[in-house]
Amino acid sequence: MIIAIDGPAAAGKGTLARRLADHFGFAYLDTGSLYRAVGLAVLRAGKKPDDPNAAQYASLNLDRGLLRDPDLREERTGIAASKVAAMPEVRANLLEFQRNFASQPPGGKPGAVLDGRDVGTVVCPQANLKLFITASPEVRAKRRCLEIQARGHTAEFEEILADVRARDDRDMNRADAPMKPAEDALLLDTSELDIDAVFLRAAALVTERLKPQ
Ligand code: C5P
Repeated sequence: MIIAIDGPAAAGKGTLARRLADHFGFAYLDTGSLYRAVGLAVLRAGKKPDDPNAAQYASLNLDRGLLRDPDLREERTGIAASKVAAMPEVRANLLEFQRNFASQPPGGKPGAVLDGRDVGTVVCPQANLKLFITASPEVRAKRRCLEIQARGHTAEFEEILADVRARDDRDMNRADAPMKPAEDALLLDTSELDIDAVFLRAAALVTERLKPQ
């Protein structure tokens, strides 16, 4: 069982994906963390995230240690990630890892939940269930501000809103694997729905798909 959850930053897909994975005993992969690790490696090497050589090198030599680095969740890492993610070579270098995770979930788990931007369209077009989670840019920027403040940093709403919009724009308009719902994806808008309601809806769909036909 493969569950693909796509959507823009801070729409709630990570929380939903983790809860579904816990509930059904499936493995969970946050595919964005791979692009973030590449972005962070480039920044740490003192290079610009839109430097193709640096990004390609970092994606070929993915430093798994960075996946647990506290700076992975920083706003500037997310911005760097969306720049390296626009490069087809970087995407190609990260594809096999994601596909292997989905087809052979670690720990012999009976399923995998992957979240990202192109899981339903490119990484796992054969997924059993595809969800596309959205929310308005304002709601997502507000959530991002609260997350940043919870980590003890200050966050300026207008600045975060501008980052959210710029990142959406880059993710939706890149030529390779742009963020978009797969044709067979179910769209869920979390602007007005709370996470419990979204989880119950999604869990019911997974249970339905798990029933023998
Ligand atoms: O989901 P998260 O905000 O951590 O992702 C960071 C960036 O990585 C996104 O803005 C996007 O550009 C890129 N990404 C992607 N494809 C994915 C997951 C993330 O291009 N499957």
